[in-house]
Amino acid sequence: MGAIILGTGSCLPEKVLSNHDLEKLVDTSDEWIQSRTGISTRRQSGKGEEAYRLASVAAQRAMEMAGVSAGEIDLIIVATISSHMTMPSCACFVQKELGADRAFAYDINAACAGFLYGLDTVDKYLRSEREKKVLLIGAETLSSRTNWEDRNTCILFGDGAGAVVLEYRDGKQGIVGSNLFSDGSLWNLLYMHSAPSCNPDLVQPDNPGSFMLMEGREVFKHAVKCMEGAILELLARENVSMDSITLMIPHQANIRILNKLVSRLGIEKEKVFINVQKYGNTSAASIPIALDEANRAGKLQPDDLLLVCSFGGGFTWGAALLSW
Ligand code: COA
Repeated sequence: MGAIILGTGSCLPEKVLSNHDLEKLVDTSDEWIQSRTGISTRRQSGKGEEAYRLASVAAQRAMEMAGVSAGEIDLIIVATISSHMTMPSCACFVQKELGADRAFAYDINAACAGFLYGLDTVDKYLRSEREKKVLLIGAETLSSRTNWEDRNTCILFGDGAGAVVLEYRDGKQGIVGSNLFSDGSLWNLLYMHSAPSCNPDLVQPDNPGSFMLMEGREVFKHAVKCMEGAILELLARENVSMDSITLMIPHQANIRILNKLVSRLGIEKEKVFINVQKYGNTSAASIPIALDEANRAGKLQPDDLLLVCSFGGGFTWGAALLSW
């Protein structure tokens, strides 16, 4: 039918950064952060834990589960907005780390929706290249792109990576469909500058540095509305009822966004996988990390219907439906 996931893996940095640790950096409190976001801790990369290294470990774990060796991988895609270099891509570093010699590799920049965009791309790729195997990874070190003096943003984000190995299969299992969107006109509600320009004509006068800036309340409203719309449209198109969903893995942005989305969709809370309390918002890595946790906890069985959705800077958003 399409691309199926053969194995999942994830990797989180060692260091745990608690809300109490943040109280020492900015004027905030554990109580405020928990009540507004549901986040208690997040992980922060230390030396040797660049995005490509987290990505490579996550990939190795996914390949181990899949029973696929690095030499069998044909394509590596990394969804990221926080690789340690702009060029080469994070994916090329992963290819080198794994020794995946015959794979071609590139990154996707679609912020928190990057993994979802990647799933769609891989599904389409595998439908025409049916003998190939693909490694799709979401990897972030957002701690390197956070203004640690800005309490509006530094409480939200975390580091980590998640990976899946995919191949094409006939039959019922696989990616059933996806529904993706972008709206560049709303870019200034959630964004991050690049490194300062070397061309004086292209210097952005209001570039304060390469870290995240956000209008939290606006992002909140758009996130709920956009993910709800993408999901309802997808389910209607695929003729799937909300009741037949076995598990929903939403982008782990914030517990209040998720609660609102879940109540508007009318899906049972017990069917929604949430780990934002442990890792915060890991952008493109959040869905594959959660997917790996859910998978290893035995929450996914063959033929289960899995719903994933995300929303991020751009704006970028969407939903996908998978038959496990
Ligand atoms: N600790 C304590 N107080 C804080 C704070 C913090 N970390 N951050 C902001 N505040 C303060 C504000 O300064 C403001 O104070 P004021 O009333 O004196 O001006 C007050 O809390 C309310 O700020 P506001 O921004 O309106 O709070 P909020 O209820 O909207 O919660 C967010 C802020 C960021 C948690 C919320 O808007 C949100 O979750 N937005 C979505 C963010 C997101 O998920 N982005 C990524 C999407 S992929």
